[in-house]
Amino acid sequence: MSEHSAAPARGPSTSEAELLRQRVEELEAQLAQSQKLLAIGSLAGGVAHDFNNLLTAILGYASLLREDASVGPQVLEALDVIEKAAERASQLTGQLLGFVRRGGPRRVRVDVHQTLGEVAELLRHTIDKSIRIETRFDAGASHVPGDPSQIYQVFLNLALNARDAMPDGGTLTLATTPAAGMVRVSVMDTGAGIPLHIRDRIFEPFFTTKDPGKGTGMGLTVVQSIVRSHGGRIEMECESGTRFHVDLPLSAAQASVCAEEAEAGATRGKGSVLVIDDEEVVRQVAARMLNNLGYHPICLGSSREAIDYYSRRSRDIDMVIVDLVMPELSGQSVFERLREINPRVRVVLTSGYSQDAGVEAMMDRGAKAFLPKPYRLAQLSETLAAVMKA
Ligand SMILES: Nc1ncnc2c1ncn2[C@@H]1O[C@H](COP(=O)(O)OP(=O)(O)OP(=O)(O)O)[C@@H](O)[C@H]1O
Ligand SMILES: [Mg+2]
Repeated sequence: MSEHSAAPARGPSTSEAELLRQRVEELEAQLAQSQKLLAIGSLAGGVAHDFNNLLTAILGYASLLREDASVGPQVLEALDVIEKAAERASQLTGQLLGFVRRGGPRRVRVDVHQTLGEVAELLRHTIDKSIRIETRFDAGASHVPGDPSQIYQVFLNLALNARDAMPDGGTLTLATTPAAGMVRVSVMDTGAGIPLHIRDRIFEPFFTTKDPGKGTGMGLTVVQSIVRSHGGRIEMECESGTRFHVDLPLSAAQASVCAEEAEAGATRGKGSVLVIDDEEVVRQVAARMLNNLGYHPICLGSSREAIDYYSRRSRDIDMVIVDLVMPELSGQSVFERLREINPRVRVVLTSGYSQDAGVEAMMDRGAKAFLPKPYRLAQLSETLAAVMKA
C-alpha cells in the first residue's frame, strides 16, 4: 500500500481496491479457520469427556478382574492388552483435551531425555531402516514441569515430520543442549528442507503439503500450542535439512512432584461413600470397586436426588465423590450445597477433563482431592485412603 502516493479523491484506486479485497479475503479465511478450531475444540471436549467415562468402566472392571484370584494366565494376558490399549486411548483423549483446554496443562516432573529416548526407541522399531536415528544428549539438566504425554507428542510429531521429509533415507537426530534456565531439544533431519514460500505457514492449522489422507496439517499446530502452554518456544532453521528447536523451561527444584502413580496394591478401607455421577457405567464400576475395597457405596445419578439424600443422611456418609460435569446441577453447585449441609464434608472431585476450571478454587475451599477419570482400583483406593486419613 505504501507504493501509493496521492490517493485519488474519488476512492481507492484499482490496485488499492485489489489489496483491500485481498485483505478481506485473508481475514475471512482467518475467521473461518478460528471457527473451525472452535468447533473442533468443543467437539473434542465433549468426545473426551464421554470417552473418559467409558474408559473408567473399562479400566475399572479390568483392575477388578486382576484382583480376582481365580483368573488364569491367559485372562491376565488379555487384561494386560486391554489395560494398555485403554491407557493409550486415555492418553489420546488427554492430548485432545490438552489442545483445546484453556487452563494450564498437567504439571509433573518430566525427564526430557527419557522421553526422547522413548521416542527414539519407538521410531527404531517402526520407521524405515533407511533412516538412521541418532541421539545426542548434551544438556546437563533435563527435567521440566509438564504434561508427559503432551511433551511426548511434541517430540513424536516433529520426528514424524522429519521422517516424512526423508523418503529416500537420511539421518534423524534427537539432541539436547543446555540453554539459560531451559533445555533445548533439537529434532533434525537431512531432508530437502522447507521451501521459503511456505515457511510462514507451517504452523497454521490444516496447512499441509502432504497428499490427502497422509497428513492433516495439525501436527505443528498442536506442537506449537503445547510448547507455548509449557512456557516454551519453538524455532525452525533450514540448513542442509530442517531443524526444529524447542526450548522448555527447566523445573524449579520444588516443582518436582513425581506423578507416575505407582501401581501399588490397593489399600482397603471402610465407611460409606456417596457417588454422584450421571453416567451409569461409571456408577456401576465405582460401586464394584468400592465394594471390593471394603467401602459401602451409595451411587446416585441425579445431583438433586443426591443432595436430598445427603441432607437426610449426612451423618452416615463418610465421603462423597462428585462428578464435575453433570446435566442438572454443576459439580461446583453440588459441592457448595454439600458444604452448606455439612461444612466438614469430605468431597472428592472427579472429572474426565483433567484440569477443569474451578477445581483449584474448590480445592482451596475444602474439597479434599481431585480424581481424574479414568481411574482404576489403585488410584481410587489411594485417593480414598488419603482422604479418610486427613
Ligand atoms: N522436517 C520437515 N521437513 C520438511 N517439511 C516439513 C518438516 N516439518 C514440517 N514440514 C512442512 O510443514 C507442513 C506442516 O506440518 P504439520 O506437521 O503441521 O502437518 P503434516 O505433517 O502435513 O500433517 P500431520 O497433521 O499429519 O502432522 C508439512 O506438510 C510439511 O510441508
Ligand atoms: Mg506432521
